[in-house]
Amino acid sequence: MSTVMIVGATRGIGLELVKQYLGEGHDVIGCARDTGAADQLEAVSGARIVGLDIGDPASIEAAAAEVGDTPIDILVICAGVVGGMAQALDNVDLDEWVKTFHINTVGPALVARAFKDNLAASGNGHLMILTSQLAASTWPMGGLYIYSTTKAGVSKVGQILALDWKDDPITVTLMHPGYVQTDMGGPNAEITAEESASGIRSVIANAAKEDSGKFYKWNGDIHPW
Ligand SMILES: NC(=O)c1ccc[n+]([C@@H]2O[C@H](COP(=O)([O-])OP(=O)(O)OC[C@H]3O[C@@H](n4cnc5c(N)ncnc54)[C@H](OP(=O)(O)O)[C@@H]3O)[C@@H](O)[C@H]2O)c1
Repeated sequence: MSTVMIVGATRGIGLELVKQYLGEGHDVIGCARDTGAADQLEAVSGARIVGLDIGDPASIEAAAAEVGDTPIDILVICAGVVGGMAQALDNVDLDEWVKTFHINTVGPALVARAFKDNLAASGNGHLMILTSQLAASTWPMGGLYIYSTTKAGVSKVGQILALDWKDDPITVTLMHPGYVQTDMGGPNAEITAEESASGIRSVIANAAKEDSGKFYKWNGDIHPW
């Protein structure tokens, strides 16, 4: 049995990961930006709920203090936002771009820093950050300046972490979770949250230290950078 922590556990892929890991009998810490608005997470009995707003460094530190020195075997950072609708260069919302950078890019780095000791204490910790195919230089889609650049940034954060933590017992991976039927992906997306979460769990279960720094798709394929 492992201890699994999901950041951004109130909806979508994060909530589904909570359900599936609980179903496998693991101890699950589900992190919510606003614990007073985490109804779906509360309805899943068994998860320990911790407040963590990934856009707020003080909130990340408070969550780390609350979790204490509990070893964490698997930490998946699902929290992320699109960054609003004004994403063409002619109308891009600059305040939103900066705010989204803090949530999508800086926040995951600060979570990694805050919980590094917990992951190392596992002896075989796995940190996975959910990024996007839109972050890849190979992905041929223009527009979406805010989302694409902040996700490209967090992919680089993951690569750097893998290098910096090469001597630590922690594997760091990046994940494109698919085009998923969630609030973010919408109802016409290609796969369900159940399929995405199931694939993510399989990638984590099969990854070893030598896979640190790899960028995966939910189906286990390697995503080109
Ligand atoms: N769905 C897709 O097709 C798709 C494709 C590629 C990548 N992704 C990535 O996969 C991840 C999960 O996506 P999803 O589809 O599950 O999205 P979602 O349904 O919109 O859920 C987003 C989650 O992130 C949380 N969150 C947002 N801002 C936060 C903050 N400041 N602090 C903590 N949590 C915060 C939300 O919490 P609240 O409920 O409190 O708002 C919610 O739990 C995201 O990083 C997304 O960019 C998704």
